[in-house]
Amino acid sequence: MSRKILVLPGDGIGPEIVGEAVKVLECLRRDHGLDVELEQGLIGGAAYDAAGKPLPEETLKLAKAADAVLLGAVGGPKYDTLDRPLRPERGLLAIRAELELFGNLRPAILYPQLASASALKPDVVAGLDIMIVRELTGGIYFGEPRGIRTLENGERQGYNTLVYRESEIERIGRLAFETARKRGKRLCSVDKANVLEVTELWREVMTRLSSDYPDVELSHMYVDNAAMQLVRAPKQFDVLVTTNMFGDILSDCAAMLTGSIGMLPSASLDKDSRGMYEPIHGSAPDIAGQGVANPLATILSVAMMLRYSLGEPALAERLQAAVGQVLDQGLRTPDIHTPDTRKVGTTEMGDAVVAALRA
Ligand code: IPM
Ligand code: MG
Repeated sequence: MSRKILVLPGDGIGPEIVGEAVKVLECLRRDHGLDVELEQGLIGGAAYDAAGKPLPEETLKLAKAADAVLLGAVGGPKYDTLDRPLRPERGLLAIRAELELFGNLRPAILYPQLASASALKPDVVAGLDIMIVRELTGGIYFGEPRGIRTLENGERQGYNTLVYRESEIERIGRLAFETARKRGKRLCSVDKANVLEVTELWREVMTRLSSDYPDVELSHMYVDNAAMQLVRAPKQFDVLVTTNMFGDILSDCAAMLTGSIGMLPSASLDKDSRGMYEPIHGSAPDIAGQGVANPLATILSVAMMLRYSLGEPALAERLQAAVGQVLDQGLRTPDIHTPDTRKVGTTEMGDAVVAALRA
């Protein structure tokens, strides 16, 4: 049966990079027997412009009916002054919550061809292959109460709430243990248990779960130390599991180890592995419309989709190999360009991946 993929380009560079990923999907359909149907929808600022809200009902309906969602990016300066509920980012948070995509997998892999594009010394990052498992539908991003209130003395006070139920910690923990089990069998849980009670509970639940996964070695680290260790000796990690906000921060940090945030895909999964796939970078309004954005993170997100939601691991491998070949050919978008390589734009990079897939 043909599977449905909802494509949500979003804002900024979103339409450009998603356009290249769609070319890849079409090539897989045409030449490699992938049986999928693509639909398009609106999200973020683009949805606000067309329909007055960042996540229209129509988009949510399509997303719920789809087997997987491919998303570009949302947001832009034009929308920063809107009322908070209307901002593009709220559309993204809402679709994650509505689809119950609690498990966010963010791999940071250094392609050997890009070792010199990393800001860190090649020997610190060579061979890097880590996976950040970020909780995505709870924590301070969603905790109530939240807001900005005026105190009795007239001063304003902003407040958010960091909350996790045991069941929320347990389900992300299980996903992380399962993920570690299929890789290097080492899981590091990142918290701030020396200060925050909520992550004291997090640590307790992770420790309890570990008895169900005796083959996985569990360790714990405070988030400040984890940030330091990520840039000091990142190869010590296999899988990291952490809260929504810590994961947001640490995954950007891990991305830069690999040379460019333009290389890193992500998968956001529900309990049945239905998922949304997106690059971890943002909408990059500063370069939008110039045809220079790196489409590889989005194309690699398609590879994750093939693996996690469409049950096509062989095609996922094939697509990842195609990306490797294009890097071998020396093609680089400006974010990963070094003097000895050839600078190309978004379209040329996408076309080269398609050509490698067809070869
Ligand atoms: C991410 C982004 C989002 C987040 C923003 C755009 C809401 O930074 O996916 O990492 O904070 O989750
Ligand atoms: Mg982020």
